[in-house]
Amino acid sequence: MLDNLANLHKLCFPDKPWAAEEFADLKKSGCEIIASQNGFIVYRAVADEAEIITIGVHPEARRGGIAVAMLGIMEADLKKQGVKHIFLEVAADNSPARALYEQNGFVKIGVRPKYYDGIDAVMMRKDI
Ligand SMILES: CC(C)(COP(=O)(O)OP(=O)(O)OC[C@H]1O[C@@H](n2cnc3c(N)ncnc32)[C@H](O)[C@@H]1OP(=O)(O)O)[C@@H](O)C(=O)NCCC(=O)NCCS
Repeated sequence: MLDNLANLHKLCFPDKPWAAEEFADLKKSGCEIIASQNGFIVYRAVADEAEIITIGVHPEARRGGIAVAMLGIMEADLKKQGVKHIFLEVAADNSPARALYEQNGFVKIGVRPKYYDGIDAVMMRKDI
């Protein structure tokens, strides 16, 4: 399963692929992973806060609502755990991801200048 996830991650992030071992380490460190053939989301909850670590959808399966569906499943799970706030960081030039998050109720709360190889990171939060 983690090999499939690593292959899918490489298609989504060709410049920074993660090996199956990295996903295994994330799970060991308490991260939760929702994954299907065409999409994955990794997140971590601590007390009443959670962070989205990464999300990706197979390039040929995009704009079909998979990311929104995964966010919905994650949010339902986090609500059950008592989480009240979800945080994430996204590269300022990643328009698809920023549109996804904005459409799903995340608001910009700050910027980390030049965080990703010279590109700003936009910090976002959603209260649930
Ligand atoms: C960002 C990503 C996960 C979106 O996945 P997706 O399954 O295509 O997203 P959805 O189909 O659920 O789209 C939901 C909404 O997000 C926005 N959106 C998604 N892709 C978009 C794009 N290319 N351009 C503009 N808006 C986009 C739209 O508002 C869309 O709603 P609509 O289709 O009704 O207009 C996908 O593009 C991806 O894997 N990108 C590469 C990895 C990445 O950058 N991950 C985010 C790291 S922070």
